[in-house]
Amino acid sequence: MSTAPHSALPAQGRATAEVLAELKGFGADDPHYKEGRLWSLVYYLDEEYSQFLGDAYQEFSSANGLNPTAFKSLKRFENEIIAGVAEMFHGTPEVCGVVTSGGTESCLLAVKTYRDLARSRGVTQPEMVLPVTAHVAWFKASEYFGVKVRLLPLDKNLRADVKKLPRLCNRNTVMILGSAPEYPHGTIDPIEEFSAIALKRKIPLHVDACVGGFILPFMEMNRRKLPLWDYRVPGVTSISADIHKYGFASKGASTITYRNLDYLKHQMFVYQDWPGGVFVSPALLGTRPGGAYAAAWAAMQHFGKSGYRDLAKRTMQAFDKMRKGIEKMPALYVMGEPTGPLLGYGSRDPDVNIFAVGDQMDAKGWKINRLQNPDGLHAMITASHLEVMDDYLRDLKEAVATVKANPALAQSGSAATYGMMSHIPLRGMVKQKVLDMFAQMYRAGGQDMDLHAAHAPEPGLKGQMNALVDRLAQWYVTRQQQRQSQR
Ligand SMILES: Cc1ncc(COP(=O)(O)O)c(C=O)c1O
Repeated sequence: MSTAPHSALPAQGRATAEVLAELKGFGADDPHYKEGRLWSLVYYLDEEYSQFLGDAYQEFSSANGLNPTAFKSLKRFENEIIAGVAEMFHGTPEVCGVVTSGGTESCLLAVKTYRDLARSRGVTQPEMVLPVTAHVAWFKASEYFGVKVRLLPLDKNLRADVKKLPRLCNRNTVMILGSAPEYPHGTIDPIEEFSAIALKRKIPLHVDACVGGFILPFMEMNRRKLPLWDYRVPGVTSISADIHKYGFASKGASTITYRNLDYLKHQMFVYQDWPGGVFVSPALLGTRPGGAYAAAWAAMQHFGKSGYRDLAKRTMQAFDKMRKGIEKMPALYVMGEPTGPLLGYGSRDPDVNIFAVGDQMDAKGWKINRLQNPDGLHAMITASHLEVMDDYLRDLKEAVATVKANPALAQSGSAATYGMMSHIPLRGMVKQKVLDMFAQMYRAGGQDMDLHAAHAPEPGLKGQMNALVDRLAQWYVTRQQQRQSQR
């Protein structure tokens, strides 16, 4: 992290032009997303479109959606966004919902809603069924709202094993989750089969379409064959869908919709005795950013169905190209049954450590996320990636060849750390270790979390414990690698 040449809070204010010039410089070390080098986090088209979103945002950047009766403009954006989403998902006119700040907020809200609905029916020890591949936001919600997770395992094709679902449900089950698609492998969970079980047991079924919500409907309009996952499936009671992902809105915009108001009203919060006045809030945040609503509305108006269909078409061209390119490399395989727009891939060659391949790709300037259980690399593909796909596949081929020629690369760089983190059996230890490293980033003054660097041991008992954990982890990973190469 670069150090500040200025005082963090200057004694005297600075000229706006000077501040802006310096602020722009902060981006120098950021991933090169404008050149298609980043495979998650950002949905970028071009400067003209970014300017348009920025203008829309700026118009309402001071407006506050805290009280939906104050800014009529924001409620209107919200109404139109929700109506558009309900139509995209084949909802009846009863479908209703709220614009939120992002996928995580939408997922947290669903858990709060269904916990409170179940509470109103006397459930005091709430549980929910999540496929192993559910996004981490659901595990966060479990911790935040005290709803116990029952994990639905995957079958050998990395699909949620629906046969095991009935026995995970009981009187305390407040909701079942399915994803369209799930983040790690891009597979759409078997929502129709989930729905049959959910209806029989009278359990709400939420579909996490945070990734897929703004692309699957348009892939279907483009005649891609997809399983049903939206309100056409009778057991689906709610859907989360992010506009700031494949809807190409500015950051800070997602939606949660419900089949009808009987569900949504359990999301609302009212406190009638506050000296500040009777307080009512539809979502998690207090102040809600008007700019994000305006930009989300503007994005939907700008693209419309035709624009989103075009984006979906180019995205899927890129997806197909990547999938075929990876399948042609004998050392690699594509995980599960991805429908797009994202996928994961791993190594089937014991001499090719996939995390070392990731390191080689990083060195060539790509920014790629890592997967575990099984180990892999990840790609969230957008329309802009079509232009760089040939370069990506060429570099990937070279990276695989380099690692195959130098298997020891698996024990160096971030490959060693990722290998350790994903394989060491004492998961609580990994959690503690990551927490310690992550917390360092939030120490006063802030530091980077560098997975390539060897950290100097801390003094005292804790330092010794950490060093021991590191040594144990190294030993475990080396032993696994030796076993693998003996096979
Ligand atoms: C399936 C799924 N759900 C929820 C989320 C959380 O979204 P956000 O990062 O906007 O909070 C993500 C993010 O990638 C996701 O892939």
